[in-house]
Amino acid sequence: MDDVRVELGDRSYSIAVGSGNLATSLDAALGALSPTSVHVVTHPMLWRRYRGSLGSCAACAEPILIPSGERHKTLRTVASVLGALAERKADRRCVVVALGGGVVGDMAGFAAACYLRGVRFVQVPTTLLAQVDASVGGKTGVDLPQGKNLVGSFHQPSAVVIDTQTLATLPTRCMRSGIAEILKHGIIADAAYFEFVAARGRRAWRPLPDWLEPTVAQSCRMKAHVVSQDEREGGLRAVLNFGHTVGHAIETLTGYRRLSHGEAVAVGMVTAALVGESVCGSSGVLVERIIAGVSAYGLPWSLPQCCGDDEIVRVAMHDKKTSGGVLRMALAPCLGRAIIAPVDAPVLLDALRRHRSLGSSEVGHG
Ligand SMILES: NC(=O)c1ccc[n+]([C@@H]2O[C@H](COP(=O)([O-])OP(=O)(O)OC[C@H]3O[C@@H](n4cnc5c(N)ncnc54)[C@H](O)[C@@H]3O)[C@@H](O)[C@H]2O)c1
Ligand SMILES: [Zn+2]
Repeated sequence: MDDVRVELGDRSYSIAVGSGNLATSLDAALGALSPTSVHVVTHPMLWRRYRGSLGSCAACAEPILIPSGERHKTLRTVASVLGALAERKADRRCVVVALGGGVVGDMAGFAAACYLRGVRFVQVPTTLLAQVDASVGGKTGVDLPQGKNLVGSFHQPSAVVIDTQTLATLPTRCMRSGIAEILKHGIIADAAYFEFVAARGRRAWRPLPDWLEPTVAQSCRMKAHVVSQDEREGGLRAVLNFGHTVGHAIETLTGYRRLSHGEAVAVGMVTAALVGESVCGSSGVLVERIIAGVSAYGLPWSLPQCCGDDEIVRVAMHDKKTSGGVLRMALAPCLGRAIIAPVDAPVLLDALRRHRSLGSSEVGHG
């Protein structure tokens, strides 16, 4: 068991990371909050699977069930959660428990941020991506037809409970998505960590490897450290977007169907490393290490044929993170260090062309 602290003054909280600890850690987290009522928000499938492992919380109230899938990450679903809380007459001292992946966490967190102008919530992430990324840091929200994550708020959880055993049922493709973010943590902050994970490449996850639990804890520590210093992404937190400028553009251009988020980020990290060669003197070794790391897990690294370089640049320039028409990208001058730098469109275009000339990854995008 590991206990990782996110230091944010009176909004500080703990992330309990363990294996088989779901009931005990959740009971401990809820016990410390003394809630008047507890409301679990989850998908029907996850409720069936975990209702027996939630400790005393399973008996608190009927769960608030929401449909799974990014297409349901909408204001309409959040409205249904808010309606359910109101029906139950949940008061200001209630606690919402988000049991699921990033989709549940983002929506349950957003509902908790809005209900009665803000009630407490506990994250219980059950996907690797949510355990190492989405559940930590307090970004909550939903998508609009006009784009992903366009509505939301910062609302920190009161606790995060991570049981890596929940990953035993996760499809391989979802494991890969989380691994892309873990490799990213190494690239931006800790070269040895990157090499440790890259060297353990695998494509099958049953049984779960021993190193997974300490690795999840290490990634949480890294994200917690960044978030503690820059909660609202005024500057430093943007380094976590390494690989996401081009990754998001590819996801947008392929309608969020062809590549998973982590797959798109894996591809985007290669372009970001190539941009770094022009902007901050990154060595060619960085690109090689990233390709080796992502390939070891069966993640793709080449740009999809169906997205043109000009289109990618156009979408990247309209990214939420672009301010005043200037694209700012997270770049890695070397393995283990990241900076934020302005990048002109022609520089990004040149990096995309060089990326294409590297050939294509053995794994398909389909
Ligand atoms: N708030 C943040 O900081 C942040 C960061 C990264 C991503 N996100 C968001 O997270 C979302 C993606 O999250 P995700 O990748 O976890 O996807 P997800 O929440 O859609 O989960 C993927 C699928 O796995 C299923 N599932 C969940 N746990 C399972 C388990 N233990 N066993 C078997 N199946 C399980 C879910 O029901 C779902 O069908 C996106 O909406 C993204 O915008 C948020
Ligand atoms: Zn991401």
